[in-house]
Amino acid sequence: MKIAVLKETAAGERRVSATPETVKKFVSLGAEVVVERGAGDTAFLDDNAFAAVGAKLGSRADVLADADIVLGVQGPDPASLAGIKPGAWLAAGLNPFGERARVDAYAALGIEALAMEFMPRITRAQSMDILSSQSNLSGYKAVLDAAAEYGRAFPMMMTAAGTVSAAKVFVMGVGVAGLQAIATARRLGAQVSATDVRSATKEQILSLGAKPIFVETVAGIEGEGSGGYATEMSDEYKAAQAELVSSHIAKQDIVITTALIPGRPAPRLISDAQIASMRPGSVIVDLAVESGGNVEGAVAGEVVEKHGVKIVGHRNVPSRLASDASALFARNLYNFLSAFWDKEAGKPVLDEEIGDAIRLTKDGKVVNERLLA
Ligand code: NAI
Repeated sequence: MKIAVLKETAAGERRVSATPETVKKFVSLGAEVVVERGAGDTAFLDDNAFAAVGAKLGSRADVLADADIVLGVQGPDPASLAGIKPGAWLAAGLNPFGERARVDAYAALGIEALAMEFMPRITRAQSMDILSSQSNLSGYKAVLDAAAEYGRAFPMMMTAAGTVSAAKVFVMGVGVAGLQAIATARRLGAQVSATDVRSATKEQILSLGAKPIFVETVAGIEGEGSGGYATEMSDEYKAAQAELVSSHIAKQDIVITTALIPGRPAPRLISDAQIASMRPGSVIVDLAVESGGNVEGAVAGEVVEKHGVKIVGHRNVPSRLASDASALFARNLYNFLSAFWDKEAGKPVLDEEIGDAIRLTKDGKVVNERLLA
């Protein structure tokens, strides 16, 4: 059983899909691990650290030759997989909706492409969930990015020279990233409020010491679809939400948006007119910018200024904390493969529930029902 760890090639990607800790564990399961040279450099893990725990090092061709399982953070360019064995597994964050053509190319290579972001949201798979592990770090980093762009202080400070008032932070979308953003902003001393379409989040917002801002006027909205994810809301709800948010946003210093709907463009939550209502020097961080953006005028990969308000649209926020993000991502992959490890076969054997959910391609065909629907 040979496990290959790829060096990431996507622009700006600093994470790596294995760490010395996980390599050591794979080796104790009986696997041979081959790491592409330099794979960990950008996450502060040098080749020697991998070699010290029993990994071999090699070129892309060396690691792919005869590999049974190939690990990545992002899906590699199919052209860079020349020489991969048909039937080999590729386990990574494959962005199946955004990179649909690649999925076809993986099928053509005859490999089994396993999209880690399609991991079902069931209790036993929580430790394998890359969306949670990475979103948590994004939520934290979003607040620090906002603080760095904000020309004022976060906490209230009472000094001999007078009082500095606390920053008002509003978090829109209270999933994993939003909850961590609330907690981080609170730790920095901000006054925090938050909103979501899923009513279950109200309790969570309160328990973190923040104020829930919710649409109460439209009856019967639960907002929760399968797996705890949000669903698309009715037009009536959207109008009520926009009105509520408008009056609230005008009084905020920092807004962090994290709202996503799986398989669809991110919902538009903040309009240009709402940005104009904020006081100059305010900051908006759009964590959904790569999925279409929650904020009008946000640009992926840039910090832009509109009406005196900075709109932060960093790409790939987890990669900005590459070391911690890699450690958690690598553990998600290890937890996944080790949970299915069949000692007799000396390799992982997936069950139907998780296998069918994450498998995109097999035997030359695209097989995932979310892609075929
Ligand atoms: P996400 O990243 O898909 O979306 C972020 C948040 O945006 C969600 O809370 C969503 O409800 C909200 N949102 C969507 N449209 C909105 C709108 N128009 N206005 C305001 N907010 C909007 O969500 P994430 O972070 O993946 O978490 C979703 C849920 O899944 C959470 O309850 C989380 O605790 C749960 N979860 C369960 C896991 C498990 O059981 N294995 C693992 C991870 C998360």
